[in-house]
Amino acid sequence: MRAAVFNAYGPSSVLHIADVPIPQPMPHQVLIRVHAAGINPSDWGIRKGQLRWVLPITFPKTLGSECAGVVEAVGELVMHVKPGDRVVALLGHKGGGYAEYALAIMERVVKLPDTVSFVQAAAVPVTGITALQSLRDLGHVRPRDEVLINGASGGVGTMGVQIARLLGANVTGVSSGANEALVRELGANRFVDYRQTDFTERTGDRYRVIFDAVNKRTFADCRRVLTPDGTYVTTRPSPAVLLRSFFNGPDRQKAKFIGAKDRGRDVEWLIKQMSSGRLRAVIDRTYPLEAVAEAHDYSEGGHVKGKLVIEIF
Ligand SMILES: NC(=O)c1ccc[n+]([C@@H]2O[C@H](COP(=O)([O-])OP(=O)(O)OC[C@H]3O[C@@H](n4cnc5c(N)ncnc54)[C@H](OP(=O)(O)O)[C@@H]3O)[C@@H](O)[C@H]2O)c1
Repeated sequence: MRAAVFNAYGPSSVLHIADVPIPQPMPHQVLIRVHAAGINPSDWGIRKGQLRWVLPITFPKTLGSECAGVVEAVGELVMHVKPGDRVVALLGHKGGGYAEYALAIMERVVKLPDTVSFVQAAAVPVTGITALQSLRDLGHVRPRDEVLINGASGGVGTMGVQIARLLGANVTGVSSGANEALVRELGANRFVDYRQTDFTERTGDRYRVIFDAVNKRTFADCRRVLTPDGTYVTTRPSPAVLLRSFFNGPDRQKAKFIGAKDRGRDVEWLIKQMSSGRLRAVIDRTYPLEAVAEAHDYSEGGHVKGKLVIEIF
């Protein structure tokens, strides 16, 4: 099968297409014929070796932590899907999605209704679970909470705006002005252009939850505009946040780091919202497998609108 692989850490040019054997499923695994695979910033972080201490890899490596496609074969313990079913899967940091076939652990494979396309589905697992777990499990967002999403037009942020609204919150989205229409259309009640206004200086506004999806503002900055019992959630750990999360008291402002957990039931929830029209993936661009290096370069620029997806035919 064709797969995008790399044999050493480095720039996007290390990625190349190779002919590799089709993997065979273990008893608890599902083999998926991949039609679409999502791209995430952690993919190029791994490729560059930035995450080598936390996520060591062996070469040759195929990236891709989420995909959608058709079940090709299943291990003997797999009961909930069968060959021919349309599915979406979280592959985790083990990766494998940038290929014609990928192996997934059965608990992380979810059936896909006909109403959700492969491209839409492949764009959701990683960013969707990150936003869902940040807002629901760490922020404990409740109806009518004021919630601010920093990086509202990115992969995690576009999910965050919609999920915060689904949880009943009033949402303020922050991105550059060029993305205001998109962020409002996703459900944000208010919008801040970070190039014009520093939201942490607008001390007349208070948020019960600030979700910094793009790790651009510190807890220290955000405290000024958090309610006294407010929670700041970030997608990247810093010593200050880790220390603070350890000493979080019962009545004080809290700082938390999301390390998203690969839970199939959260993906199932997200797909259910998509099939009923309450949630959608924003797709900036799609690429053929051969153009994966180009996709990495664009992602690394830091201004993707929603998600990038590889389509494999
Ligand atoms: N810990 C975890 O479990 C976990 C899981 C998933 C992702 N992550 C991490 O979360 C981060 C975000 O991921 P992502 O997929 O959302 O990234 P992304 O899609 O690449 O984010 C791009 C977005 O960031 C916005 N942005 C850039 N600079 C900004 C600024 N100064 N203020 C506000 N917004 C700004 C851009 O908006 P404009 O174009 O308008 O500037 C763009 O739409 C990454 O670091 C990723 O590795 C962590």
